[in-house]
Amino acid sequence: MTAPALRTQALVAGYEPDLPIVRGVDLTVAKGELLVLLGPNGAGKSTLVKAIAGVVPIHSGSVSLGERDITRVPTHRKIAEGLAFVPQTENIFATLTIHENLQLAAAVLPKTERANKIAALYARFPDLATKPSRLAGSLSGGQRQMLAVARALIVDPPVLILDEPSAGLSPKIVAEVFAMLKTINADGVTVVLVEQNVKAALAIASRAVILVEGQIRHEGEASSLLGDPLIAKLYLGTSQPHTAEHQ
Ligand SMILES: Nc1ncnc2c1ncn2[C@@H]1O[C@H](COP(=O)(O)OP(=O)(O)OP(=O)(O)O)[C@@H](O)[C@H]1O
Ligand SMILES: [Mg+2]
Repeated sequence: MTAPALRTQALVAGYEPDLPIVRGVDLTVAKGELLVLLGPNGAGKSTLVKAIAGVVPIHSGSVSLGERDITRVPTHRKIAEGLAFVPQTENIFATLTIHENLQLAAAVLPKTERANKIAALYARFPDLATKPSRLAGSLSGGQRQMLAVARALIVDPPVLILDEPSAGLSPKIVAEVFAMLKTINADGVTVVLVEQNVKAALAIASRAVILVEGQIRHEGEASSLLGDPLIAKLYLGTSQPHTAEHQ
């Protein structure tokens, strides 16, 4: 049996040593999966993915990426090892241009590879290619998310984790962002998607995990959760998209 793409075992994590927010999470993400992580506000979804990415302290338990234990690997090396993370906020540099944002992300690559990788991303995100000298801060919400995802993809990561990429976007733009994620997943990237936009996320996901009070409360096929009104009522709250105020 091959190792899962990403796995946490008995993971306990949080901002203060005596205050665990993630309280013993065993999460297994198979290679090629598009997993959606759902749960009410404050459940600890962001804390869980931030702990996996290395930006929130891990108190105990482990995180592995493929065969490798990356529990104690510093964040920048996790990226180099193939774990790409698009945080919920501050995922681009607003005062830099599109091109400068991509150049900064490419700095982890050998010099000779950078230009080719950036060119490949422009081919994948033609919307960014038409205006490389625009300031990232002047882009629309959807374009910013595209740029944040492009930055994350520069290292050809096997695993891409995104924290609420649909926050604050209109339903039409959410559909575009999700279609892009589906394509990335179809190209072989394992995707973990934290979402509040329940219906749209379940529609593109293969499997869903529901986190409540820092623990996994339920997991199953995305399609079966989509059709389960009790689950929706109990754990998922509203399926309305977030408003900008939540960010
Ligand atoms: N920087 C921080 N310092 C201390 N506590 C925090 C911090 N960020 C979040 N928390 C706390 O951690 C708990 C879980 O928050 P988290 O942001 O992980 O939830 P979430 O499931 O992502 O919620 P949402 O759906 O609102 O994004 C909350 O009680 C929150 O108050
Ligand atoms: Mg969150």
